[in-house]
Amino acid sequence: MDRAGREEQVDGHQPIPFPCSPHNTAFLSEAVDAFCKTFTDVVATDLGYDLLVTNYSRRAGMVGARFVDAVFGIARQGDPDSLLAAIPKMRSYYRELKIGPLLSPLAYRELQAGLVSDDLGGRTFDIGAGDNSFGQYLLRTYPRVTSVIGTDVQVDHACVTERRLDFRLQPRPDSLPRDLGIADTILMKHSLHHMLGQVQDSLINTCLDHLSDSGRLIIFEDTYSLDSKPLIDQDGFHSRLQGLGGAARIRDFLTSMDAWPIFTRDKQMSFPGTYRDTRAWKDLLMAKGCVVKSIFYGIPAEGYGAAPLGVYIARPVR
Ligand SMILES: C[S@@+](CC[C@H](N)C(=O)[O-])C[C@H]1O[C@@H](n2cnc3c(N)ncnc32)[C@H](O)[C@@H]1O
Repeated sequence: MDRAGREEQVDGHQPIPFPCSPHNTAFLSEAVDAFCKTFTDVVATDLGYDLLVTNYSRRAGMVGARFVDAVFGIARQGDPDSLLAAIPKMRSYYRELKIGPLLSPLAYRELQAGLVSDDLGGRTFDIGAGDNSFGQYLLRTYPRVTSVIGTDVQVDHACVTERRLDFRLQPRPDSLPRDLGIADTILMKHSLHHMLGQVQDSLINTCLDHLSDSGRLIIFEDTYSLDSKPLIDQDGFHSRLQGLGGAARIRDFLTSMDAWPIFTRDKQMSFPGTYRDTRAWKDLLMAKGCVVKSIFYGIPAEGYGAAPLGVYIARPVR
């Protein structure tokens, strides 16, 4: 298929809503297909392997290395049946990893400079909070943050370790729990790409409605760019990602790297993810009447995930 045809196929693709679970056959065939398509390409496989080794082996030692080898041993075969047969083993190795929040303390430190730490405070919501550990981190790190409420579409051992930290389940993917009130800061950290495009759109609108007059929406997202210069390009990963050959290939790669964690755990999220490049994130927020500052773009530090990170601060103009 030519390049133009390929772009059209990717963009016209309708993701599976949720749940994403190895017990959901529609998800499973989609994910196995995405995984095998990307990882029969040697360049993509080597990049995926190196990113995961950086992520998990350095972070979780031998257990991490065993997990990455299990995943890529199968990926290199590019054989859907072997991949399906190996899922139970992947699940058990993954459980042993016991990974916490997605960003390592090292990456947090690098981001703090950009977030202007003194400026982060007040009532804070973390939408798509996962295990809620980022809320715990915020309360410990930013003295002016008075309380954090994490929300999510599923309960992932959500920690509520202190009085100022709460967790609430969302009634639907595109709406927030009732009676949340108004926030000074709303964070969405690596949650948006797990939603369908129209869910991203309405959830962002809802978040903006919940912001105080001087409030800010801060988005951390897996993103990519063919022309932005990354602030940090650890081990040349960003240049290698760009070398995959265009936006559609990069999105396929990000989809595949997101497939295997879902093989290992049941998730309430759509698949493939909805990835936008750095320009598209800024345009989306500006179209909603926000002033947008892009404060970070790059692959920040060891312990971080497989995609470049973009951080955007949006202030609604009222
Ligand atoms: C990759 S995890 C990130 C978790 C956490 N924010 C972190 O950075 O460690 C993505 C999270 O987004 C959540 N999610 C997916 N769709 C969502 C939606 N429509 N609304 C809220 N959360 C959602 C998932 O349940 C999952 O916990």
